[in-house]
Amino acid sequence: MKKSMVAGFMLVGLTACGSSEDVTNGSNAETLVMLTSADYPPYESVDTETEEIIGFDVDIAKHITEELGYELEIQDMDFNGLLPALQSERGDFVMAGMTPKPERLENADFSEIYFEAKNTIVTADGTEYATLEDLSGKKVGVQLGSIQEGEVEAIEGIEIVSLNKIPEIIQELKSGRIDAAIIEDTVAKGYVDANSDLKFTVIENTELAGSAIAFPKGSELVEDFNKVLAEMKEDGTMDELVKKWFEN
Ligand code: ARG
Repeated sequence: MKKSMVAGFMLVGLTACGSSEDVTNGSNAETLVMLTSADYPPYESVDTETEEIIGFDVDIAKHITEELGYELEIQDMDFNGLLPALQSERGDFVMAGMTPKPERLENADFSEIYFEAKNTIVTADGTEYATLEDLSGKKVGVQLGSIQEGEVEAIEGIEIVSLNKIPEIIQELKSGRIDAAIIEDTVAKGYVDANSDLKFTVIENTELAGSAIAFPKGSELVEDFNKVLAEMKEDGTMDELVKKWFEN
């Protein structure tokens, strides 16, 4: 399933650093640039074999741009740089498991939410924490610029360690330099499945945690993208992609 989907797109131009790729079919259609932070499987990550950026978000973006008659180019960067890059018009949209939290709405327009998530507390030493408050006095890893960073900032006494990439947080956790990390459920699950020393506890959402597509303020693409997203929810395409990426 995964293989044949990927093979259906011809790789047109890989840049020297491999962080930008054209995943469409070489027609004359206008290209939309998607910005992402490919450290977030199963939403987006770099396939170790092909070095392509793959994932749930990528499949959704391919589907939408194809439906709307655009070509798609994907650029990888740190999560924290995504919205500034969008504001300085270095991309047409951001898909990065990004939550449309109120502060972000000041600098970007968002599509409808296409996937709901929950946060988890991940640990490596067997300790289980049930709530964020239990982490007071602990060193806690979060992604720089993420909603998870905002959530721990709201709790008194947490020593926050903000890092650029999720794999760096996992590394810090495994080596005992931090006590816990706050990571979204589906992403945490992948790392816990792959690392027998890791554990996670799902915590109740205190704030919005779903994913939506971000656009530069005033972008005319929002309406078109929302239309296709609604169709995908209707016709089962979204369910299929959820199954493909989240249920294994
Ligand atoms: N949902 C969280 C947020 O919007 C985390 C997203 C992190 N995404 C990523 N590709 N690393 O802040």
